[in-house]
Amino acid sequence: MQRIDARGVFEGEFSLPGDKSITHRAIILNGGADGEATITNALMGEDCVSTCRCMRALGAKIDVDGTTLRVKGTPHFRRGTKLNCGNSGTTIRLLTGFVAGKQIDAELYGDESLSLRPMKRVAEPLSKLGANITTTEGHAPVLISPQPLKGADVTLQISSAQVKSAVLLAGISAEGETSVTEPVKSRDHTERMLSAMGADLQVNGNRVTVKHSDLRAVDVCVPSDVSSAAYFMALGALKGKTLCKNVGINVTRTGILKAFDRLGVQYQLLNRRISGGEETADILVEKSAMHAISLQAEDVPSMIDELPLVALLCAFAEGESRIIGAKELRVKESDRIKTTVELINNIGGDCEELPDGFVIRGRKKLRGGNVDSYLDHRIAMTAAVGLIATENGGNLARPECCAISFPDFFDKLDIRLY
Ligand code: S3P
Repeated sequence: MQRIDARGVFEGEFSLPGDKSITHRAIILNGGADGEATITNALMGEDCVSTCRCMRALGAKIDVDGTTLRVKGTPHFRRGTKLNCGNSGTTIRLLTGFVAGKQIDAELYGDESLSLRPMKRVAEPLSKLGANITTTEGHAPVLISPQPLKGADVTLQISSAQVKSAVLLAGISAEGETSVTEPVKSRDHTERMLSAMGADLQVNGNRVTVKHSDLRAVDVCVPSDVSSAAYFMALGALKGKTLCKNVGINVTRTGILKAFDRLGVQYQLLNRRISGGEETADILVEKSAMHAISLQAEDVPSMIDELPLVALLCAFAEGESRIIGAKELRVKESDRIKTTVELINNIGGDCEELPDGFVIRGRKKLRGGNVDSYLDHRIAMTAAVGLIATENGGNLARPECCAISFPDFFDKLDIRLY
């Protein structure tokens, strides 16, 4: 149990860790490319460490020096490896597509939580390309047998960057052309990086087409992760003023700013620039009186990981907020609809569970209380922000899981874990 005290004011300037999605992709794509690349400001959270471990097992050479990685791709992928993906959904899903394209056999597995997450959503579209993938009743462990792939046209029922990326990573090794279409555009880091590495790729609205391509290594300068910055941005909105530096503001990721606009949160994007093919900015957020909002399915993909935090902000906003079309939250590191509802209610808020979202009745003040992380990093960090903003603070059980995406989260909050 970690004590988290309430604070009257929260102010400061923050440098946040590198973007998790971009770091995963930079490691995997360079690990299979021709040449050697340097990745700077990489996130070395547990999920990306899992990706490094798997890519090394497959034959890539990766040297780590703090947050700088040197990756040398391998043309010969090791056969018969067992790839431990830890807790990381992005690792297992992207690598399922990647490995399927390399015509090798492999077994991908992970921890208890990862083993509960759906894998058919990746196996099925990949089987359209001819991949031979067996799941364990729809879950990990996932077994891949070598099979030459042929391009196919895949339509996803659910928007998912992980599934889209798995198809694209298989598609670059398949014969001919592969297309993937999703209902709402999800994060597009894979598309951007593949293009930068010389892939023959076209984007047309929500449809991406890729042809068989050889990739050349590219250096990647990773921007700070807007999903990690979001906690400090929320603290600015609730309790004072925060400046988050050099944050990636790719439009497929910044639904949180759309939520801020609707909530009435005062923020500014300063020093906007392009860095490594991604737009970045310093984000200044100031304490704001917030009012209730409505979000629906089309809003969800660009703020999928921030929705627990947005729901928390709604708990402090005036009026009744409604978030729907977010059923995907049920299959994240925890059932984030259930765990968010419990978190908000345990600190004195009023949040009701819907099959695909929440209704949140806002209150000016929440008393605080005892909460659990459910071993879900995003719930742990949302809980810490929530407790700081309450009247009495409280205790957070099992806070260490933040290390999945944000190893020094509590240091940045000036909280020493005991
Ligand atoms: C991610 C995509 C999202 C997100 C996850 C990271 C990625 O998952 O929730 O944290 O890097 O592609 P889905 O694609 O399953 O929505």
